[in-house]
Amino acid sequence: MKVLIVGGGGREHSLVWKIAQSPQVSKIFCAPGNPGISELAECVKITADQTDLLCQFAVKENIDLTVVGPEAPLVDGIVDVFGKHNLKVFGPDRKAAILEDSKVFSKCLLKKHGIPTADFKCFDDYGQARRYILSRGAPIVVKADGLSKGKGVFVCKTNDEALRAIDSIMKDRVFGNAGDQIVIEECLTGEEISLLAFTDGRTIVPMESSQDHKTIYDGDKGPNTGGMGAYSPVPLMTDKLYYRIEKEILVPTVHAMNKEGRPYKGVIYIGLMITSNGPKVLEYNVRFGDPEAQVILTRMKSDIVPIMLATIFGELDKIDLEWYSQASVCVVMASGGYPGQYDNGKEITGLDLLKNQEGVCVFHAGTRSVNGKIVTNGGRVLSVVACGNDVKEAQKKVYDALSKISFDGAHYRRDIAGKAITR
Ligand code: AMP
Ligand code: GLY
Repeated sequence: MKVLIVGGGGREHSLVWKIAQSPQVSKIFCAPGNPGISELAECVKITADQTDLLCQFAVKENIDLTVVGPEAPLVDGIVDVFGKHNLKVFGPDRKAAILEDSKVFSKCLLKKHGIPTADFKCFDDYGQARRYILSRGAPIVVKADGLSKGKGVFVCKTNDEALRAIDSIMKDRVFGNAGDQIVIEECLTGEEISLLAFTDGRTIVPMESSQDHKTIYDGDKGPNTGGMGAYSPVPLMTDKLYYRIEKEILVPTVHAMNKEGRPYKGVIYIGLMITSNGPKVLEYNVRFGDPEAQVILTRMKSDIVPIMLATIFGELDKIDLEWYSQASVCVVMASGGYPGQYDNGKEITGLDLLKNQEGVCVFHAGTRSVNGKIVTNGGRVLSVVACGNDVKEAQKKVYDALSKISFDGAHYRRDIAGKAITR
């Protein structure tokens, strides 16, 4: 089989790494890929938003399976376009991808179908939003409706912070049209879990739990990022909690999408807050998480390709998904200044020391090759992953590995997976 992977970050590198292990796969292309990916796949100079070019490429190369990493092409309808050319593509179509494209849609869906989530109200009027914040009072959460690379959510401790958030979304329009509407919601407290599942719209095959670390600084401080690290499995996710999430959230979500005439096929990612009143939905994503994919895929024992094909063909009921019992920890190495402004082009050293090191994977995200050297080319530069017999061992291994890599301005959180160890 020939496989095309769309995207070029750490998540896509881990997808390429996993798919390359499938005995069914003879050739992998990745568009646009990155220097790490180019060791396993042929990188193609087409970006993830160039749907028509990607489709022409897939037709020309007789691609048997296309896997879409990021949300933007899914929301733009890449699955619909490929479908018209009878190309097999893994991911939800445009109608189903609205689950991530619009927080107003997803919050209304949750409410309509009685799925637990934070209380909320939607606004497109600045004055009304302002009055609502002042009447409810902080702590309060402000969210831009549309896609904003993980940066459109403001968890506000004071009214002033919340008012500044609506100023930047609705007046300064920092997220453009994605901020035409906003959601203002109750601030939930508890611990977060990411639960991802394959679904073909009828059968749901859950993956192992993982936990992201969204903020830039240790101790969950500072602004939100795309994700600074993750681990799997999450000890908080007991069987009892899982069955509750399955019954109250996972199954009702897939049914709700069917009832809305938006049948969902692909990976569904549910961001959950485990509150003292039980699990509540924070957000839906319509694809693998980044960096959740890096820890989940390094723990997946089964070949992922038959699972993706079964998702497309509506045959997930025939799939048995197996996992390694080992734990996995991923730490993201970021550019100095991220999630604000940062410079690119810093030379990365030490990567060779980690090649072929047992149980360690260095997935590239924001990197570029210049005259034979690997340099930084993005905010999140590398996702370093280690596996161990338990989370503690994996954590030690990942930080040992990180100490060997450096670039000017590099920074990473020192407390990834700490919650699992102190629990
Ligand atoms: P989202 O993109 O909606 O998942 O939000 C990003 C992050 O903001 C989440 O992972 C949480 O850490 C935080 N967050 C979102 N909604 C809430 C909420 N209602 N209460 C507390 N924290 C939240
Ligand atoms: N790690 C969060 C996300 O992928 O959206």
